[in-house]
Amino acid sequence: MNLNKNYENLEQSYLFSTVARKVNEFIGKNPDKKIIRLGIGDVTLPLCKAVTQALHKAVDEMGVQATFRGYGPEQGYDFLRTAVQKYYAKRSIELNLDEIFISDGAKSDLGNILDLFDKDNTVLVPDPVYPVYVDTNIMNGRKVIFADANGDNCFLPMPTKTQPACSAETSSNTFPPADIIYICSPNNPTGAVYNKEQLREWVKYAKENNAVILFDSAYECFISDPELPRSIYEIEGAKECAIEFCSLSKTAGFTGTRCGYTIVPEALSKLNKMWLRRQTTKFNGVPYIIQRGAEAVFSEEGQREIKENINYYKENAKIISDTLKRCNIWHVGGKHSPYIWLRCPNNMTSWEFFDYLLENIQVVGTPGSGFGKNGEGYFRLTSFGSKENTIEAMERLEKILK
Ligand code: MLT
Repeated sequence: MNLNKNYENLEQSYLFSTVARKVNEFIGKNPDKKIIRLGIGDVTLPLCKAVTQALHKAVDEMGVQATFRGYGPEQGYDFLRTAVQKYYAKRSIELNLDEIFISDGAKSDLGNILDLFDKDNTVLVPDPVYPVYVDTNIMNGRKVIFADANGDNCFLPMPTKTQPACSAETSSNTFPPADIIYICSPNNPTGAVYNKEQLREWVKYAKENNAVILFDSAYECFISDPELPRSIYEIEGAKECAIEFCSLSKTAGFTGTRCGYTIVPEALSKLNKMWLRRQTTKFNGVPYIIQRGAEAVFSEEGQREIKENINYYKENAKIISDTLKRCNIWHVGGKHSPYIWLRCPNNMTSWEFFDYLLENIQVVGTPGSGFGKNGEGYFRLTSFGSKENTIEAMERLEKILK
């Protein structure tokens, strides 16, 4: 038995596990302190009524012989795939049912999709970004190269010379051609969102280089500007080069319930058939009960209710942003995203600031360096806490930073 040596190239533990361990150690030593968690992007509002009603109904069906269900289709029940299809159709994106795969969340599929690609492919990942992209490729021994995201390009790296919205300077990247390109928009952790023109350039670049784009749209629901693209398929030609991953975790509070969907277009080489082959072999689908709950998210009532929740989180983001403004802390995000990305005060490193906040005001955030080298000196706060806790955390912060 030989071990997969690639694991030796990983950080000792996954970013959010390290954060959780440090917080638990602190609690062990200070059991009376009230911790406020604005670290991992975990939602706090309960599932909406439309969803819980659908879940209850499905549970009852499972307890009756006539409506009981065993194994379901690995790629998801038609009722949920049809709901997703209609959700895209509202944005004038036509999808065939066979292009829609129901998953237990974007994280799993973002890792699993790598089964379809050769180990020798080069992977291009923005830095900073959601650490799952890098870690899953390291596990497979793939070469990872980085597209620098920083203040100069509004945290939106581009493949070609272009003028970013935040600056009068043009910027360009100098990375070698890649086979697999990750794009996360709205971005985790920075909250930056690509506009259509910028995504068009990425699609053009991917096609010219015979590359595939893995587009993570887990935060699309937070986009409030109708001009900004919520799906890469809003860009002409994207179906020939992009796979899209989406999740109900942040959209509808499914972080614990687990359901998402992945779009693998039929126009995309052999990938649609390969993904079906992979899923039918390694996956038995998302539970029927959960899929019924997910279907309810797309109902009229479900959409209205989840929008209320998203607005609640956006108000939290504003509370955070207003506090940071008063403290003169540079920050972005929070507008089309649940995340606020800030520069650590007094030249502290990301982990120094993490420790400083934990020890002095018991507020937990996520160190920017955990998202890549360009994240060093930055810090991420999430708006997914309760309003009361967000206000309290910001009052504590203002006291020590002002
Ligand atoms: C995050 O905090 O970045 C996310 O919650 C992680 C995830 O979605 O897996």
